[in-house]
Amino acid sequence: MNHNGLPERICCIGAGYVGGPTMAVIARKCPEIRVTVVDVDQDRVAAWNSERLPVYERGLDELVRETRGKNLFFSADVDAAIRQAQLIFICVNTPTKNYGQGQGKAADLVYVERCARRIAEQAERGTIVVEKSTVPVRTAEMIQTIMEQEDRDVQVLSNPEFMAEGTAIEDLNVPDRVLIGSADTPAGRAAAETLAGIYRTWVDPERIILTGIWSSELSKLSANAFLAQKISSINALSALCEATQADVTEVANAVGCDERIGPRFLRASVGFGGSCFKKDLLNLVYLCEHYGLSEVAAYWQSVLQLNEYQKTRFANQLVRSLFNTVTEKKIAIFGFAFKQGTNDVRESPAITVCRQLLTDRAWLGVYDPAVPEASVRQELSDVTGSAGGRLEVFSDPYDACDGSHALVILTEWNSFRDLDFRRIFASMHKPAVLFDGRNLLDIEEMRRLGFQVRGVGKV
Ligand code: NAD
Ligand code: UGA
Repeated sequence: MNHNGLPERICCIGAGYVGGPTMAVIARKCPEIRVTVVDVDQDRVAAWNSERLPVYERGLDELVRETRGKNLFFSADVDAAIRQAQLIFICVNTPTKNYGQGQGKAADLVYVERCARRIAEQAERGTIVVEKSTVPVRTAEMIQTIMEQEDRDVQVLSNPEFMAEGTAIEDLNVPDRVLIGSADTPAGRAAAETLAGIYRTWVDPERIILTGIWSSELSKLSANAFLAQKISSINALSALCEATQADVTEVANAVGCDERIGPRFLRASVGFGGSCFKKDLLNLVYLCEHYGLSEVAAYWQSVLQLNEYQKTRFANQLVRSLFNTVTEKKIAIFGFAFKQGTNDVRESPAITVCRQLLTDRAWLGVYDPAVPEASVRQELSDVTGSAGGRLEVFSDPYDACDGSHALVILTEWNSFRDLDFRRIFASMHKPAVLFDGRNLLDIEEMRRLGFQVRGVGKV
């Protein structure tokens, strides 16, 4: 530890969407700490060491440029980084298990366990191990047991990450809270203090919450479940709005004015996406079932069911508006990322909608300002075949629309608002259908231009 009581060297296992940005912020805020981010994926490490980072986030390039090679390092030598670190973050993926017991629901902890075993083999005594990955409650117990088997005197902490993609750097710079869970022992509390010391370098101390370890693990799953539930609630109401001629934006505004409810996360949409909401809800459902709480499990499961319903409902409405067939029709897709500000396509609602349209033999012209063509093709390869089939990916939004029967907005990129829709309308077949899955555009203005427009939860 240095004279401020901070570790001199820390290491993060997992150079992904969380590990990279989180460690870049720590390196920037704590220049006296040497931060090494390691990964088994050598290509990813190489990308972090290149001019083209593997993660697209506003402000990240500058941050990495300032710190890389000074006190921020990306490496594939996992063991060396573990041996040298006094504090180690585990920040690997925890996807939904796609095999065996718990398939389709439980979190796959194989990567976390692998890290724990590696740490148990390599770490010095007294190392602090921090669970940053989102994990089921009581995962820290598994990590602790592995350490004890190797006779390692290691403290395990839970420090879940709450940043959202697209705003990761802002969220990390000014987090709503930093949560640190520890064992209720002198050594556990001391380890929590060391970690809190790092965050206190830039985070308001009142926003640093110290809790028990199981509460910390469960709070992360609960926070994501609440956020997803809010979106599913407004999306459920969007269907009722359409049936009753109410306007979902007006309803959301009225409801959100109540301070007890709050205005955020009430934007009706084609459905939520992203790598975490679905997997964390499934994980929560699995946990509830494991503890025999079937009613609780069913409650959270319904949040997911509603999201699936919303995505399919949207695609079905589109087909209906094109005289019940999209076969051989060209449809322009604006947005493939799961939200604006990121190149991440994991669980993007665009995948479900595009799959359904391709299965119905439409031609798709996809445009997204941040997502590379390879990611779009990879996600849709099972319905397009290896030759790419009826899918084209454009770097120019106007080319994507040329000769299309419909334009569908699936990501809330603000830049879409600035496009010349008069030009787009002129280049499309008539009637030109515009389906806005994010209620991004001014419906009245688009109608004036001649589009047949449909939003979500709108008349
Ligand atoms: P990711 O898939 O982008 O990155 C994980 C990385 O870990 C990969 O590069 C993988 O190669 C590496 N890895 C796996 N096993 C390894 C091992 N044994 N040794 C070294 N490297 C290994 O995942 P992510 O999006 O960064 O998410 C990481 C965790 O953070 C997940 O648990 C997720 O739920 C949670 N989380 C994610 C977000 C988000 O916005 N993506 C936000 C909050 C929390
Ligand atoms: C979410 C949480 O917001 C983070 O706090 C959490 O750390 C993270 O999951 C995680 O654990 O991975 P993220 O998935 O990156 O972050 O992005 P969100 O802003 O939550 O958006 C998720 C999805 O919901 C997106 O598809 C977005 O377009 C959609 N959304 C969001 C809506 O449809 N309506 C809204 O009102 C808000």
